[in-house]
Amino acid sequence: MDSIVVRGNGPLSGQIPIAGAKNACLALMPATLLSDEPLTLTNAPRLSDIRTMTELLASLGAEVTALQDGKVLATSCHGEINPVADYDIVRKMRASNLVLGPLLARLGHAVVSLPGGCAIGARPMDIHVDALSALGAEIELKDGYLHAEAKGGLKGAVHELRFASVGATENFLMAASLAKGTSVLKNAAREPEIVDLAKCLRAMGAQIEGDGTSEIVIEGVDRLHGATHPVVADRIELGTYMLAPAICGGEVECLGGRIDLIESFCEKLDAAGVSVEQTHTGVKVSRKNGRIRAVDVVTEPFPGFPTDLQAQMMALLCTAEGTSVLEEKIFENRFMHAPELMRMGANIEVHGGHATVHGVEKLKGAPVMATDLRASVSLILAGLAAEGETVVSRVYHLDRGYERVEEKLKGVGAHIERVKAS
Ligand code: EPZ
Repeated sequence: MDSIVVRGNGPLSGQIPIAGAKNACLALMPATLLSDEPLTLTNAPRLSDIRTMTELLASLGAEVTALQDGKVLATSCHGEINPVADYDIVRKMRASNLVLGPLLARLGHAVVSLPGGCAIGARPMDIHVDALSALGAEIELKDGYLHAEAKGGLKGAVHELRFASVGATENFLMAASLAKGTSVLKNAAREPEIVDLAKCLRAMGAQIEGDGTSEIVIEGVDRLHGATHPVVADRIELGTYMLAPAICGGEVECLGGRIDLIESFCEKLDAAGVSVEQTHTGVKVSRKNGRIRAVDVVTEPFPGFPTDLQAQMMALLCTAEGTSVLEEKIFENRFMHAPELMRMGANIEVHGGHATVHGVEKLKGAPVMATDLRASVSLILAGLAAEGETVVSRVYHLDRGYERVEEKLKGVGAHIERVKAS
């Protein structure tokens, strides 16, 4: 397993290109199952999760061809479709559950393995099952697989999610696009990735309104045609790299970044003493004079503070002046980066869903272990400003969601190397 070595750094300067959003692309790729015509995705990120989704779609009979060094995904699904999403692939990546809605809509039946838990939580699928059942699907759990059947096809319905689940909203949108009649989804997730999926589905001929709000209306159509769609910029990668100059000092421009994708995060950065400016090429970030100030953070569904930036924000707050309290309200076990940051000298107390961070002057480099995707990058951010050397092991977690992280950070002056496993 590769590891990444980071050495404490002075101020950073330069530009970091922001890639297409992993969490948008993982919802857009299964949309190819909805049509027998080609769907081309441009501005696609080059990540191991995208390769896992490619493997899953291929197992179902869809084709995904990576062009232009992986930045373009040419997908199609015009032959025989296998309705079974196998545990061996699904267990590697929870987003595999996003084939359930499209398979049901296209075939009228699907057999999709439950993904099983992951490091950050149990991550059940009850909200997905309730939403698709509202459209007329009969779904039962057998041997760890969801067996779904929609005799006579899916029918439009009004349904309210008990929680604004991103994945359940995406499965419902894709299924309702081909259902007979009108559907209304209430308490829908509002994330930019939902809006991006709706844009792509409209380009394919779907009739969807209200995406980005809590109430989405979908008029089912008989069929969807092919399209070409650009993947929206990755707001979580953007927020992650905005924290690099915030932690190290200096000034960095994140090319392709858009503040409107992460306004609540930018407000917290401003309160902590970080200046953020939208330019016509991206987002420019620099630390205002003086030490970072402590701020409190509560993670919430969009437009609240993103849970996927909580670990990275904690890395910044470890050396802030004062005490910060971070409340994680989305996942039940998303503070695994805290003990690793404490190995670097951070002063953090975790009680249930709250982490209290007492700022210290400086962190000290240490060997640390990545436990999940966002925790791994928070350790790299902490290492950028720590005294001495930090070695982050198990960086396969990192490669799921960040393309060429060491190249991007080296490009703005960071002392960072990837050490290939022997
Ligand atoms: C998406 O996961 C993202 N993944 C996650 O990003 C992100 O953290 C999450 O949304 C929240 O923003 C992708 O888009 C591929 P949810 P998703 O359904 O759709 C519970 C990353 O780091 N829940 O909104 O799975 C669930 O357990 C990843 O890129 C149920 O209880 O998130 C969690 O506590 C991590 N039953 C909460 O809701 C369900 O049926 C939010 O889940 C579904 C979800």
